[in-house]
Amino acid sequence: MNGALCYFSGTGNTKWIANKISDYFKENDYNIDFFNIEYKEDFDLENINKYDFLIIGTPVYAGMEPRIVSNFLKKLPKGNNKKCIIYSTQGSNKASAAENISRIINKKGYDVFIQSSIKMTNNYYFAMGKKPTNEYITSTLKEAEVKCKNIVDGFIKGEKLIENTNSFKLGVSKVLSKGFIKILPKLSKNMISKNDCDKCGLCVRNCPRGNITMENGRAVFHSKCMLCLRCIYLCPKNAITYKNKKIYKIQKNIIKALDIK
Ligand SMILES: Cc1cc2nc3c(=O)[nH]c(=O)nc-3n(C[C@H](O)[C@H](O)[C@H](O)COP(=O)(O)O)c2cc1C
Repeated sequence: MNGALCYFSGTGNTKWIANKISDYFKENDYNIDFFNIEYKEDFDLENINKYDFLIIGTPVYAGMEPRIVSNFLKKLPKGNNKKCIIYSTQGSNKASAAENISRIINKKGYDVFIQSSIKMTNNYYFAMGKKPTNEYITSTLKEAEVKCKNIVDGFIKGEKLIENTNSFKLGVSKVLSKGFIKILPKLSKNMISKNDCDKCGLCVRNCPRGNITMENGRAVFHSKCMLCLRCIYLCPKNAITYKNKKIYKIQKNIIKALDIK
């Protein structure tokens, strides 16, 4: 059996989970091919029809999937009853994103078999929440790994696992998410590169929106930022600040799950 795993991951959490899910499938002689939504121009979406099942992974921004994922869903071909696993990663226990994606792709004719919200570290802790400790990160990753194994075992055994979010919560999240998208340009102005920048260009090369340029020896952020925070966590000098705050590198190890250029 062959599965296509389509994901977006800003700072590595969603890709880390993708790797775990893929590893567990491989242990059971299933093959998983990754499709990074960020590069969707590089792959033909119709190719997904060739796979036996589909997995979609997303981070959660203001309760929902980011626009890069919503746009991908719009272009996804019809499902013809193809089995699907939908997962989100977020800082809290649960969010509406997975439910929202399930509803969208159900309408396209996919059969959502697993729908799961997986708690990971909150990479936006400096704006909402509190700084995760190392112990918290370790135990969160352990719990997430168990969840990945249960997802794969359940899928292989043919057991449906749907973590529902009620329609009221989904409605509230949709409103919040629309508000978030509106104020994104304002929020992203909080990101500034400081003098410590050594012009390595990692942020420029790896921004999923091509939103950063190097000008006069400093990273300059333009107006297309989606606030994925990859640049902040990738910067080896910790030179990118948010509201003048230096960010504690909670994604230091996890971000290695991404294919960094
Ligand atoms: C702009 C932004 C908004 C976020 N909003 C939420 C949220 O509403 N609820 C939540 O639980 N986590 C939220 N988070 C935390 C992320 O969903 C979480 O850290 C996720 O696992 C990041 O995945 P990634 O590393 O694959 O990008 C937010 C993160 C960012 C950057």
